[in-house]
Amino acid sequence: MIRIQRLTKGYVDNPVLRGIDLQVQAGEFVVILGRSGAGKSTLLRCMNRLAQADAGQLQVAGIDAMATRDVRELRRRVAMIFQHHNVVPRLSVLKNVLTGRLGYSNTLASLLQLFRREDVALARDCLRRVELEHKALARTDSLSGGQMQRVGIARALAQRPKVILADEPVASLDPKTAHLVMHYLRDAARSLGITVVCNLHQVDLAKEFGDRIIGLASGRLVFDGRPDQLDDIALQRIYDNPAASEPLPPVTASTRCARAGA
Ligand SMILES: Nc1ncnc2c1ncn2[C@@H]1O[C@H](COP(=O)(O)OP(=O)(O)O)[C@@H](O)[C@H]1O
Ligand SMILES: [Mg+2]
Repeated sequence: MIRIQRLTKGYVDNPVLRGIDLQVQAGEFVVILGRSGAGKSTLLRCMNRLAQADAGQLQVAGIDAMATRDVRELRRRVAMIFQHHNVVPRLSVLKNVLTGRLGYSNTLASLLQLFRREDVALARDCLRRVELEHKALARTDSLSGGQMQRVGIARALAQRPKVILADEPVASLDPKTAHLVMHYLRDAARSLGITVVCNLHQVDLAKEFGDRIIGLASGRLVFDGRPDQLDDIALQRIYDNPAASEPLPPVTASTRCARAGA
């Protein structure tokens, strides 16, 4: 579903991604861990062209994400969830979810907020998946932070994406709410067969929810394994990485997750 090869991306004299190789299978729930500034957000942003990578190869949901001219189609297939849920506070919950359908409608219909009946049914189904259907007509700003992020998840689902990229989706929530929101994200993605790549800074959540964990340090992949393989040595590798200029040892066979076909 995602195939990344030798991907690099820098800003002026700051090399942010230094040659990332990664393959993600359809339906996998992958968590990316790494210190602030490691390049996690940049990697996600390259995948849906919020940022343009410099070199390498990047196939996402059947699209060459570096070269495609049809960014709209890429973003239909690849939904994004952000830390600050990006919902429109004064709109109803249902309308916020329906904005996930805008990538499928023409400009005039979008401007007039004309939604098809089947889109409304789909939006309600997505709200049901995050157990917020009863809030469909409420103003979104009457919801709690955790509920708003569930609206963000429902909106992403309403896009009918192949891939969801979640950039620290629970960073601003208390631990209990964060846990609940991760549950909704994982269960919905799993039941719909959606591939998820999720940046997190909470190691415990990564271990609980990730099928697979990727560690990024200074723009390099320094860990790729199952949650039970994320031991102290691996965490040191991810969080206490040497100075960015020093070459890191390659990921070893013991840290790489053995997976068929990857
Ligand atoms: N738009 C940008 N312009 C310049 N530098 C950026 C931009 N976005 C990110 N960076 C830099 O790239 C590095 C990695 O950032 P980021 O991908 O946000 O890391 P993370 O998400 O792991 O915290 C940081 O040094 C950051 O300052
Ligand atoms: Mg980030």
